[in-house]
Amino acid sequence: MPATILLTGGAGFIGSHTYVALVEAGYQVVILDNFSNAARDVPERLAQITGHAVIAHDVDAGDSLALDAVFETYAIDAVVHFAAKKSVPQSLANPQRFFNANIVSLLTLMRAMERHGVNRMVYSSSATVYGAPESLPIPEHAPLRYTNPYGLSKLLGEQFLNQKIRQPQGWDVGVLRYFNPAGAHVSGLIGEAPLSNGGNLMPLLARVAKKELPFLTIFGQNYGTPDGTGIRDYIHVCDLAKGHVQSLEKLLRHRQSHTVNLGKGEGHSVLDLVKTYEKVSGQTIPYRFQDRRAGDVAASFADPSMAADLLDFRAERNLWDMCQSSWRWETLSDPAWQLSEAKPTPRILKMPAAGLSPQDFRH
Ligand code: WQD
Repeated sequence: MPATILLTGGAGFIGSHTYVALVEAGYQVVILDNFSNAARDVPERLAQITGHAVIAHDVDAGDSLALDAVFETYAIDAVVHFAAKKSVPQSLANPQRFFNANIVSLLTLMRAMERHGVNRMVYSSSATVYGAPESLPIPEHAPLRYTNPYGLSKLLGEQFLNQKIRQPQGWDVGVLRYFNPAGAHVSGLIGEAPLSNGGNLMPLLARVAKKELPFLTIFGQNYGTPDGTGIRDYIHVCDLAKGHVQSLEKLLRHRQSHTVNLGKGEGHSVLDLVKTYEKVSGQTIPYRFQDRRAGDVAASFADPSMAADLLDFRAERNLWDMCQSSWRWETLSDPAWQLSEAKPTPRILKMPAAGLSPQDFRH
């Protein structure tokens, strides 16, 4: 009998892509979402992608009575907890709302799981728990120090779950520290569509490319980075979804708790994304520099080796794939926009590449 997995926030950006990956891996999946940051037609889009009926309930992860009803209805084997707020700027503007959404809801969910004997969780954490890293790339044992209320809320969530792991008859928990999820499912039917603009870069690039915004505001041009703009580790959302399947399998089959970075292990600047998005969309992306954004760090990218060692996880898709799939998602419903014919520039290996000579690189 395939295991049944409960996804809180399962209609959201990461949740919906993880739903597809889980169904394709043979799991039964139940979605809970309050649709505060997800479109109500996502379940039917998921049905179109997977060819299966979708079980989705309009439930807030902090609604204790509703959670009891869900756990009494479905024999849940594990929970993947996505339901949370994630925008750094919004967390600075309204910390209380973040603590309520990200901490109180988690504790309510954990109590419901205890009442119903469910003791496995994959927890959606974030690289913001590292704050401004002392060195790069960032390993899991790097110091944990938040620089904004969002990072604090994720760090506290990890601590609550670590207590559960250490108790007698402890839980099995997978803590996944996301770097910067981007891109969309190849179908173009699901993607990053924040109802409340979370301020993430990739959706904003799309809006400028579609001429919905006159220009991109780039926060900071004088960071100590090669082109002065912020560097992040962008990971394709479909790779991230695959990481959740591998984390669940580690819990269900081996009962091995873990805390791992989910990133590609490569840093790209804001201007790298602007250039790539221009090639993919065939559109010019005007931009203007502005002061640094509160809560931002100069550079952040993962040491991905622990996820590779523990989960055999490696992010395979590259920045071109992320921008191209994002553009397809953003424009599929709008025939006025098409993918450009441009192809990704070949990856230039650093010389000397063993066994190759300069002649090998002549095109
Ligand atoms: C990326 C870069 C900005 C917008 C947050 C969360 C993280 C994760 C992803 C959950 C930075 C620059 C952005 C703009 C810009 N959330 N930027 N102009 O802040 O790195 O990470 O979202 O999964 O946990 O912390 O992502 O996309 O907002 O910013 O110049 O209009 O783009 O300064 O360098 P961030 P982001």
